[in-house]
Amino acid sequence: MATPLFFVFFTFSLLSFPFFSLQTAFIAPIHKDHNSLLYSISVHVKTPLRPANLHLDLGGAFSWIDCYNHYNSSSYRLVKCNSPLSDSFNHGVCGSCIQAPTPTCGNDTIFTYVYPEKPSIRDEYVDYLNAKLTDSENVVTDVLALSTTDGSRSGSLRQVSYMPFACVKTNFLRGLARNVIGLAALGRANESIPLTISAKFNSPRIFAICLSGTRLGSGVAFFGSKGPYIFSPNVDLSKSLIYTPLLFNPQSGSIYTNWLPSYEYYIGLSAIRINNEVVRFNTSLLQFEPVHGRGGAKISTSTTYALLQSSIYRAFAMAFMKEAARLNFTLANAVEPFGVCFEGSSVEMTAAGPRAPVVYLEMEKGKVVWKLGGRNSMVRIKKLGVDLWCLGYVNGGEFPRTPIVIGGLQMEDHLLQFDLEKYRFGFSSSALMQGTSCSKFNFSSSDNFL
Ligand SMILES: *[C@@H]1O[C@H](CO)[C@@H](O)[C@H](O)[C@H]1NC(C)=O
Ligand SMILES: *[C@@H]1O[C@H](CO)[C@@H](O)[C@H](O)[C@H]1NC(C)=O
Ligand SMILES: *[C@@H]1O[C@H](CO)[C@@H](O)[C@H](O)[C@H]1NC(C)=O
Ligand SMILES: *[C@@H]1O[C@H](CO)[C@@H](O)[C@H](O)[C@H]1NC(C)=O
Ligand SMILES: *[C@@H]1O[C@H](CO)[C@@H](O)[C@H](O)[C@H]1NC(C)=O
Ligand SMILES: *[C@@H]1O[C@H](CO)[C@@H](O)[C@H](O)[C@H]1NC(C)=O
Repeated sequence: MATPLFFVFFTFSLLSFPFFSLQTAFIAPIHKDHNSLLYSISVHVKTPLRPANLHLDLGGAFSWIDCYNHYNSSSYRLVKCNSPLSDSFNHGVCGSCIQAPTPTCGNDTIFTYVYPEKPSIRDEYVDYLNAKLTDSENVVTDVLALSTTDGSRSGSLRQVSYMPFACVKTNFLRGLARNVIGLAALGRANESIPLTISAKFNSPRIFAICLSGTRLGSGVAFFGSKGPYIFSPNVDLSKSLIYTPLLFNPQSGSIYTNWLPSYEYYIGLSAIRINNEVVRFNTSLLQFEPVHGRGGAKISTSTTYALLQSSIYRAFAMAFMKEAARLNFTLANAVEPFGVCFEGSSVEMTAAGPRAPVVYLEMEKGKVVWKLGGRNSMVRIKKLGVDLWCLGYVNGGEFPRTPIVIGGLQMEDHLLQFDLEKYRFGFSSSALMQGTSCSKFNFSSSDNFL
């Protein structure tokens, strides 16, 4: 009996090893932290490789990592002055350090005042007269490793060497999910994780994310792959993608990078409809303003619920309540941060989420429409003595930098593709309507050697 098993094992290795070692498509699980309601990706970093969770920041230009809490790796390198990567820090300074070499102490190395960048800074009102400068930090490169994939399951880990990270002090992580040690930047900057991977492996400059809201399973990110993206039971979500151009804001909002473009992703929203009810708002709010980067409709994984500028929010909430009344939803006292909530008992539950008015985000004058059902617009609040379904779009204030921010709730269980070759954004219809969900990617692998 032993011989055939031995034989089978070897045949399998011979077949699978060359296949996986040539794979240039990668995946990483995406977890939702149910305290902070933020997302992180699970990767491996350093040498020897260690698992690490990094906050998922779709609009980030440059990743960062805690360099002060036992940074122990034989493969880190400080970014030297006048090295190619130092050009990315044209406003950094060159410095030296007299102590023992560590990731935060080296001679002739770049210090940056620009990165690390907290995601929230891109949406903060910029007061140029009272700018607070951050500490300057070193920049390191180190090994990042992710599982390769054929699109349907995970294969062996493969290393991406010299991935750049700005260093942060441990307290910089405050406000993020408790288990993260840094941030994964997925913006359209050349130093971001997806574009670094695509450049290293000469793979398509395309990545995709599928966020899951459930505690039962994680979502998934695909890098360097235009598909397939296969979820159990054998549903390829790349087949149902609909595309619209990606727009780029010429002006970063952050005070630290105000001479740079924004690396975030925007879509050309032209109208919003709730069932047949058009949400009437001043669409010139969406035009990009050239000095502070205000305007536009962007997609953000660092925002839990969609944020709408006050006047847009009011019109949206009115239209939603009007349509909800037709479904006999009963209004209730709203709880923070929501402005509109309904009695839980008045909302009917279906397999694809609560039966709610449908939100249609219209692009290209209505030629392209992203349909969001109750799963993507309602939030259940259930605690002692309270059972509510609240509208998962919140008031973003009178003068936000970005009048429409599409948040995590709106994206969950849709596969979203960012194609930086054709500069287009692809979105699938709800995975739930296709008999699967973003938590149904098969991460188990018989092949997970390092
Ligand atoms: C760093 O890692 C090496 C190898 O894993 C180990 O021998 C060493 O004790 C670690 N040092 C610290 C300061 O954690
Ligand atoms: C930097 O150079 C000085 C002078 O050569 C040396 O004493 C010091 O140890 C070096 N620092 C590091 C971190 O290598
Ligand atoms: C980013 O990379 C592309 C392709 O390699 C290159 O053409 C472009 O100049 C780079 N952009 C910057 C700002 O360095
Ligand atoms: C629409 O918004 C633009 C830009 O904020 C503003 O200049 C204009 O006055 C607004 N129009 C109306 C009718 O409110
Ligand atoms: C709403 O309630 C009215 C009166 O009870 C009923 O006739 C109608 O069918 C209900 N509508 C829905 C969508 O449940
Ligand atoms: C997931 O992949 C593993 C290894 O390839 C396989 O054995 C298993 O049957 C798959 N599970 C599902 C639910 O498809």
